[in-house]
Amino acid sequence: MLSIIILAAGQGTRMQSALPKVLHHLAGRPLLQHVIETAQQLPNRDIAVVYGYGGELVRAELAGMPVRWVEQASQLGTGHAVAQALPEIPADDFVLVLYGDVPLIGPETLQALVTAAEGSGFSLLTAKLPDPAGYGRIVRDDSGKVLRIVEHKDAGDTECAINEINTGMLVVRADWLQRWVASLDSENKQGEYYLTDIIGMATAEGVTINAIQPATVFETQGVNDRVQLAELERYYQRGQAETLMRAGVTLMDPSRFDLRGNLHAGTDISIDVNAVLIGNIVLGDGVQVGANCFIRNAEIAAGTILEPNCVIDNAIIGAGCRIGPFARIRPDTRLDDNVHVGNFVEIKKSTIAAGSKVNHLSYIGDSEIGRDVNIGAGTITCNYDGANKFKTIIEDNVFIGSDTQLVAPVRVATGATIGAGTTVTRDVEANSLAVSRIEQRSVKNWQRPKKSK
Ligand code: UD1
Ligand code: CA
Repeated sequence: MLSIIILAAGQGTRMQSALPKVLHHLAGRPLLQHVIETAQQLPNRDIAVVYGYGGELVRAELAGMPVRWVEQASQLGTGHAVAQALPEIPADDFVLVLYGDVPLIGPETLQALVTAAEGSGFSLLTAKLPDPAGYGRIVRDDSGKVLRIVEHKDAGDTECAINEINTGMLVVRADWLQRWVASLDSENKQGEYYLTDIIGMATAEGVTINAIQPATVFETQGVNDRVQLAELERYYQRGQAETLMRAGVTLMDPSRFDLRGNLHAGTDISIDVNAVLIGNIVLGDGVQVGANCFIRNAEIAAGTILEPNCVIDNAIIGAGCRIGPFARIRPDTRLDDNVHVGNFVEIKKSTIAAGSKVNHLSYIGDSEIGRDVNIGAGTITCNYDGANKFKTIIEDNVFIGSDTQLVAPVRVATGATIGAGTTVTRDVEANSLAVSRIEQRSVKNWQRPKKSK
């Protein structure tokens, strides 16, 4: 079995945040969640998370994740952190150490690291960096064998010049780890129990450290401040954008596309600049997303066009619809095929059947609208009396004139017509005309008031 220990107890001072570092988001999910999800992709593993700073928040935020939570009450170093998780780990396991603030480590690299430990019992993930400042350095002997790790703060000039660094990730036999970690001390510049000291202990016993490198350095990059977080976010977004483009989605500018969740996309979709997609999203073939659209947890069927600047939130939209520009579709809305929703229209918790149109400046809330209904400009459903919400039902083929108020609860039956400017307060019969309007008067030769001096 493989026991995975994820270290996540540090505060992350340089984030300058009240939130524990590992709860900061990358692509819409906490950093720690990325690491756990990657760890879950390895076969036959148990996962323990060592938490400390802001522990209650961390546990609450990731409560659903199948991991063992281990508290490290005070942060005395990476060796001490690992030690907290070890008592419960079987001696014949291998242990993989990961970090809650290194979110982009990939499953292939981890699998390679596990495989690399199978022979000698110890593997280590290292990387060559142009600027190794701050990291632990890998000290090798003349034959290239790894000897030990020296932390930057404890390193002399020759060691500082080494550009191969410790990523911190390693795989080692649990029985050895238990023995070595028990004999760590904190005799170093930081007064911490360094996990990295076990490398020297291992080589002193003749154990070979099998060092391997990841495919890209982004995999081993930790987040220490918000600048690094933004760099990893861009890298991650670029990767997602390329995957989508290769699968048949046109992105007008992949650097101005943000997906914070999962997109299930058909082909020949085109997405203009500054689209933000959050949660679970399904886009059918040929969907067009205009510039500056915000889409969260939505299904949009084939051929639908979102004009620029639309907000679609927890809604289901049928095929061949035309939405926006500047439309807001709010939660629990379902639009059937070929519905048109125009500019400055807000729709909340409503269903609109096929072929109906709400083209200008309207609020539709708590409504059921039938097929081929035409809702004129400025129509408002008055769904709220200040205490409770009520439903508006509009049946098939209704025509609603502009500037109508529908005071719910109310039903407008099939084929009815509502005259412009009407306040509908009672149900309207099928195929009838409802109109409530003051008669127009005419005053001849009307003198407009003049400005007084
Ligand atoms: C550590 C390594 C260093 C490596 C670098 C890679 C040690 C001694 N040094 O240094 O060789 O190059 O990572 O980024 O291991 N943590 C706890 N409890 C603690 C201390 C730390 O959970 O008591 C967690 C932190 O939350 C963090 C991780 O361990 O996620 C690394 O700790 P940090 O203090 O950042 O170590 P570095 O000094 O960066
Ligand atoms: Ca660090």
